[in-house]
Amino acid sequence: MVSIEQAVGGLGNAPLTEERCRQHLWPLFTRTIEAVGRSGEIYLANHSLGRPLDRTAEDVRTALDAWYERLDRAWEPWSEAMRRYRGLVARLIGCSREDAVVHKVSAGQGLRTVLNLLEPKGARLRVLTTRGEFDACDFILKAYAQKGRIDLDFIESDERGRYHADVIAGSITDRHDLIVVSTTFFSTGQVLEGVDRVVEAAHARGAMAVLDTYHTAGAMPMDFDGSRADFAIGGNYKYTRGGSGACWLAIREDHLDDERLRPIDTGWFAKADHFGFTRSDAAHYAPGGDGWQEGTPALLCMVQALAGLEFVLGVGVDRLRQYNLDQRAFLADRLRECGAEVVDDEPRGAFLLVPTADPGEFGSLLRERGVVTDGRLDPRGKGHVRFCPDVLNTRDEMSRAAEIVARAWATP
Ligand SMILES: Cc1ncc(COP(=O)(O)O)c(C=O)c1O
Repeated sequence: MVSIEQAVGGLGNAPLTEERCRQHLWPLFTRTIEAVGRSGEIYLANHSLGRPLDRTAEDVRTALDAWYERLDRAWEPWSEAMRRYRGLVARLIGCSREDAVVHKVSAGQGLRTVLNLLEPKGARLRVLTTRGEFDACDFILKAYAQKGRIDLDFIESDERGRYHADVIAGSITDRHDLIVVSTTFFSTGQVLEGVDRVVEAAHARGAMAVLDTYHTAGAMPMDFDGSRADFAIGGNYKYTRGGSGACWLAIREDHLDDERLRPIDTGWFAKADHFGFTRSDAAHYAPGGDGWQEGTPALLCMVQALAGLEFVLGVGVDRLRQYNLDQRAFLADRLRECGAEVVDDEPRGAFLLVPTADPGEFGSLLRERGVVTDGRLDPRGKGHVRFCPDVLNTRDEMSRAAEIVARAWATP
């Protein structure tokens, strides 16, 4: 099997092209390429479930082999895999402290950790969010509000389903404790420009900020440290090809050891010297990010994400972003030439949109015709189908997909 290092070495520093991807990167993905070949489908749902490397399965197998062969000594390679996972995510998001990233099985679990640890200024925690958050955060926040655990305020989008940093910043009041906002919105792909101003405004009002970076991390460069955000959440299901359960919470460095911010979503892996099994009357947390861990970790989820993270970091987020922009421009041109309407305005994440009244039905129709993607409603209830090419898609596939989409779009 070709290693990621060899593949990336062969690629050199040149920008990505279809020919270079085919020559150097495709050998890392033989299983998924064969499967797509057998199905005859054109997979353009890379913004949803990213396609795995061959090594992904090997890594999981190796981690399981350690269990069979080494029993409890398997914790040595397993601990190393956990450390690598946290370090790779930290690099991906521009977080200088590797331990400031802790594994969560969902991004929502990271949000709940934050909701549960904050002390409200008033009787209840007051949270401000947008109507454009993904269902994970949206549902969790509504459930907390319904239970009387938080007060929840929403920011509406403009008439085009877009959000503006200055509007969000201007909506934060002294009564708010927390703001939860996406850096790239899941339904429209809009990148929230000026998110740092939102963080700054939150801090000026004595509130904290959680950034949902699920559609940013791996799709475009990120600077968590530079954003000064208190927390970020995200996961590896999409752009980093890590499957489900490989999510994370990142904590700003100066919060790591703040006594007022000790998480109650905790467990014995957060104890100082947790394998020492010593006890005291108080809960003594491990220093730094280790004190933000929980119980016995869901190890295989992290192992499953290592190859994808190494791949994205090895090829380089900048280079992948540029190639995604090139591919999207090609796809948008073909779609327009074939007569479909396209929303591909910048700045946006990794996918473009084709508007449609019923995204679920349109997505199913496209799947029947061999194009795999999905659709969502924007905050105004307008439907779109999302299209995200990746390094495994060819221009020929995109041209064929454009014809199928445009035909279905004209006469659904
Ligand atoms: C913006 C955003 N946040 C979060 C998630 C997933 O959240 P969770 O890991 O809690 O299921 C997604 C998944 O599509 C998403 O698009």
